[in-house]
Amino acid sequence: MADQTLSKRAVLTGSGAYLPAQILTNEDMAKRVDTSDEWIVERTGIRQRHFAAPHETAAYMGAEAGRQAMEKAGLAPESLGAIIVATSTPDQAFPATAVRIQALLGATKAFGFDLAAACSGFIYGLSVADAMLRAGQVKSVLVIGTEVFSRLLNFEDRTTCVLFGDGAGAVLLEARDVAQDGPGLLSTHLYADGSLGDILYVDCGTDENRKPGYLVMHGREVFRHAVNLLAGAVNDALAENNLTAADIDLLVPHQANKRIIDGVGKKLGLPPERVVVTVHKHANTSAASIPLALADAIQEGRAAPGRLLLLEALGGGLTWGSALLRL
Ligand code: ACO
Repeated sequence: MADQTLSKRAVLTGSGAYLPAQILTNEDMAKRVDTSDEWIVERTGIRQRHFAAPHETAAYMGAEAGRQAMEKAGLAPESLGAIIVATSTPDQAFPATAVRIQALLGATKAFGFDLAAACSGFIYGLSVADAMLRAGQVKSVLVIGTEVFSRLLNFEDRTTCVLFGDGAGAVLLEARDVAQDGPGLLSTHLYADGSLGDILYVDCGTDENRKPGYLVMHGREVFRHAVNLLAGAVNDALAENNLTAADIDLLVPHQANKRIIDGVGKKLGLPPERVVVTVHKHANTSAASIPLALADAIQEGRAAPGRLLLLEALGGGLTWGSALLRL
């Protein structure tokens, strides 16, 4: 007989996405830097990216995505408990983007804070929200990934400026008492290795050597670490839940590079139809990439109630992590 014991879980009750209207194709990029559609597609799988207009800040886009997630869940803004925003491109150092979003949404009873873990930020945010919900601190948390990387790009550096785009994605998580095989976050696993901090960073901050604020990436070094570290995070998630890759309905990876996504999918033995890919149309939107990919898969009906999703990301820090989520 199935175990009917109920336990408190963070259940996804709504998702949302926002992409700026302005689209730049690889041909558009080739007019600005010495590159080609062929090089970008072959190395990364990227065909286009969205770039924000001046009014499309991290807070503005995050609020749009967050509002959608709450509307889908049918939760009124004044009932929201907390807002966690994963971003490396906040509107300001403070107030936190989350607090700006709280005001834009009219979520008057919610507290909020930003979380900086680069491309892994959304997984880190899920993990913190999960802990707060299961501890009973709040009943609902909006987890938002929102980024305007176009404003960090050095158009003198063709190795990075073609890789990134802007956008925001959000999920609403609510505490529910569910059965063992019911919906919700089953686990999150977080990792960091600060000794690799210099292979991917933004060169502004408050240190005495600060520069104007460009993203700097030693792409080949990051690539070299990515597949193995991600496979480790994914295997830890499966082992802890006594699952195998065959149990995964959908892999929702961070969208940095199609070759990294394929590498992880291959290590898991997952066929392409069980891997969500949006990098061709969004490029790398850092902390926004997983919630954008998730919203895309939900919209297409691929991520449907009951399905088991494996989320994974790696980014600056290095930071990386995985999450297992049943819809
Ligand atoms: N157009 C044309 N040629 C280019 C371009 C470009 N845009 N960029 C680089 N090249 C050239 C280089 O100059 C080099 O030429 P050379 O051989 O004559 O010197 C050649 O292409 C190969 O360059 P590499 O940097 O070795 O290219 P690689 O195959 O490693 O691909 C890439 C680069 C796409 C960046 C890859 O390394 C990658 O995806 N890395 C991982 C990125 C990632 O996952 N980041 C983590 C998340 S991001 C975050 O956290 C913010």
